[in-house]
Amino acid sequence: MPSHVHEIGKVHRIACIPGDGIGVEITEAAIQVLTKLSEVVGGFQFDFTSFDWSSKAYLERGWYMPPDGIEQLKKFDAIYFGAVGWPDVPDHISLWNLILPIRKELNQYVNRRPNRILEGTKSPLEGCKIGDLDWMFIRENSEGEYSGQGGISNESAPHAMATELTVYTRVGTERIMRFAFETARSRPKKHLILCTKSNAMRHGMVFWDRIFYEIAKEYPDVKTEKMLVDAITVRMVLHPKSMDTIVATNLHADILTDLAAALSGSIGIAPSSNLDPTRANPSMFEPIHGSAPDIAGKGIANPVGAFWSAAEMVRWVGEEKGADALMKAVENVTARGVKTKDLGGSENTKGVTEAVCKEIETLF
Ligand code: NAI
Ligand code: MG
Repeated sequence: MPSHVHEIGKVHRIACIPGDGIGVEITEAAIQVLTKLSEVVGGFQFDFTSFDWSSKAYLERGWYMPPDGIEQLKKFDAIYFGAVGWPDVPDHISLWNLILPIRKELNQYVNRRPNRILEGTKSPLEGCKIGDLDWMFIRENSEGEYSGQGGISNESAPHAMATELTVYTRVGTERIMRFAFETARSRPKKHLILCTKSNAMRHGMVFWDRIFYEIAKEYPDVKTEKMLVDAITVRMVLHPKSMDTIVATNLHADILTDLAAALSGSIGIAPSSNLDPTRANPSMFEPIHGSAPDIAGKGIANPVGAFWSAAEMVRWVGEEKGADALMKAVENVTARGVKTKDLGGSENTKGVTEAVCKEIETLF
């Protein structure tokens, strides 16, 4: 038996925002697994600080984050986020008071969302085997359809009107395209799909396409394809193997990645990284799913998306060995059939979490 006694090593300060519903359950599971990982791998530790910024707290005291919330978060090396949203609070209030200001004000302009089929699990697509679905969505995370610009006029009148403005800036578009090309270049297929809707949207989306092709000149080794977002949904289902890296706007990628998660096995496994690639601000890691009020409190949420997101965080703070070990442990566990119901298994959150902790020990 290894002694598991190590020097403290590097300390990574992590801000945890469990949020609502299953966000709380899976964050607790992620902290348990990350603590085990640091004990077993050695050379690093996590110093977790938990923030009670949730819908429940909002209903009691009237706010999610305190006025200096963003400033508080800036002191950390990374942020781990569960999920926010609860039926008693309108969803646009919860999102715009917590997750969206964090992404925007900390300049986390990339949302990186990988999808693949894990060992011991299967895609609902017939004949789609492990390796046949291996995608990397690069979502623009700071502007686009979620710019927050717009308004409602004449609200109670029959001639009421509302606008929701989509914004594409040159700076915002260039930087997401460059990140997408770098990502595509780092993957074996070196293939990047531009997701667009520039047939019907003749201003912003044409601008989006144009900047893609400008940046493409810097990456002659990356093969490119332009595809309309509606056609991409068909290709995801019929020809999953033909896709690799996809760059898409905030809204398009939000929708496509829920489908991508389902096609790779379950919404409960998919991770995401909200990145500030300049590293001027901490980045934030969270599973893509929401607070799942329908299963909250039952202890049956799939923690795999939370663990995968945690592994992405571990890699981002520089602990490659730890990140590899965590993903290996997760996949060894799913391979043995230790899975929650959404993946066709019969385990609960606690059972999967304990199995992953035990697996981390046996890896070393
Ligand atoms: P959801 O992702 O919470 O749930 C959709 C369905 O997937 C539900 O049937 C749920 O039980 C299931 N599911 C989700 N995660 C699962 C897991 N880990 N294991 C097993 N099953 C899982 O999406 P929904 O219902 O649209 O939204 C619920 C709330 O979450 C809303 O308030 C919404 O605004 C919020 N939300 C928050 C997000 C965030 O914090 N980043 C992202 C998405 C939604
Ligand atoms: Mg979403």
